[in-house]
Amino acid sequence: MINAGIITVSYIIATILFILALGGLSNQETARRGNWYGISGMAIALIATVLGVVTQHYVILMTALVIGGAIGLMAAQRVQMTQMPELVAILHSLVGLAAVAVGFANFLDAESHFEGVEKTIHDIETYLGILIGAVTFSGSVIAFGKLSGRIGGAPMLLPARHWLNLVMLLMVIWFGREFVLQSAAGGGIEPLIVMTVISLLFGIHMVMAIGGADMPVVVSMLNSYSGWAAAATGFMLSNDLLIVTGALVGSSGAILSYIMCRAMNRKFLHVIAGGFGTGGGTTAAAASGEQGEVDPIESEETAELLKGAKEVMIIPGYGMAVAQAQHIVYEITQALRNKGVNVRFGIHPVAGRMPGHMNVLLAEAKVPYDIVFEMDEVNEDFPDVDVSLVIGANDIVNPSALEDLDGPIGGMPVLECWKGKVTIVMKRSMATGYAGVQNPLFFKENTRMLFGDARESLDRVFKAI
Ligand code: TAP
Repeated sequence: MINAGIITVSYIIATILFILALGGLSNQETARRGNWYGISGMAIALIATVLGVVTQHYVILMTALVIGGAIGLMAAQRVQMTQMPELVAILHSLVGLAAVAVGFANFLDAESHFEGVEKTIHDIETYLGILIGAVTFSGSVIAFGKLSGRIGGAPMLLPARHWLNLVMLLMVIWFGREFVLQSAAGGGIEPLIVMTVISLLFGIHMVMAIGGADMPVVVSMLNSYSGWAAAATGFMLSNDLLIVTGALVGSSGAILSYIMCRAMNRKFLHVIAGGFGTGGGTTAAAASGEQGEVDPIESEETAELLKGAKEVMIIPGYGMAVAQAQHIVYEITQALRNKGVNVRFGIHPVAGRMPGHMNVLLAEAKVPYDIVFEMDEVNEDFPDVDVSLVIGANDIVNPSALEDLDGPIGGMPVLECWKGKVTIVMKRSMATGYAGVQNPLFFKENTRMLFGDARESLDRVFKAI
């Protein structure tokens, strides 16, 4: 066991590294460094905690660490980039579960001897920790189910669902009062169990009511909850580092949720209230006759248009990730730049299936950072763009978001590529995107459709260039 001074210093160093990690992750050029800060901070935190005050039962602890570490390693190695949000959701559920387990263990701990006001405060911490943990756990499991397609993406809207939520909230408050009173008299386990069950149901109900198009915000919101659950666990265990780390995760998750809501032009409370969007994802809605005809194009003609252009805007979406087309996109970009074409990338804040999804893929393929722009930086420039190449994107270039404000993606800002001279949309079929809405862009006069798997089509385009 190392002494308390060393633990405190280690915790302070870990805290600083976590803050530096968050700072680093806010920009692609420093993201890699930010990641290393985070990894180092977590390693220091783990070592200091294990060698510190945590337990004398090292065999059990090490066994748990090895088993948990091995499962984590395997999961991270197997997961596809497109499944990352699912992995994140299931990891959040574990944070919630841990908070519930720690809460019960703490409450049942015969060696804990708090008295008077201190006991009341400790009981409230335990109650809140289990409550947030249980909501995070069940909500994240449902989010995992929805993101992985095991549960349908359409919102489940029970009759009088807001009243149901209100009743559950009031019950939780009432049982909280009961718990504190009964705990002071030596009991309290029954209200604690009842509240846990209500919280689990609340988590399920809350996420089931949220539609597919809002899932990114939900994952980020659950990220925030998992942070608060960890902070609550920190209070229960009197562990300062866990409190600080939990608060960092909680507040950064909340800020990310806010930024995403703004990007989708949704109010956070409306998202949480649910009932928005559809199943999406795989809905193979055929082109409806009313929309008109689409104008297909082949790879060779695409190459000609790209070579003849001065300004090219590439708009990647989820399909680029599915096709793993980022490397060939890089090759094409280089080839066009060598021919004097100005190639830029326009990135929508919710393109793909997780925040920063496109940036990660483009960085992996070594696309230079200085030609990758956020939507707001390029949206005004489309009238000067000769060719916009939409690679496996759909919702993020859907004009109906601006025209049909009552639709599932109504009000979401989108990349307005149709204002350019020609838009080439690459996808395999006329299927809808994640939000399940048909896209009028495909039927516009200056839009050409390049059907097929994005990587295969781009391979042919590259050869033709
Ligand atoms: P989507 O709207 O999902 O459209 C992707 C398109 O890619 C589909 O229409 C699909 O059409 C095409 N595609 C799939 N595989 C392909 C392949 N191998 N080759 C070529 N095309 C392929 O994606 P988006 O435009 O990026 O918009 C993102 C959506 O996801 C938004 O609605 C957003 O709210 C939601 N979402 C975002 C996140 C975050 S945080 N980014 C998280 C969860 C959900 P075909 O089937 O016809 O090929």
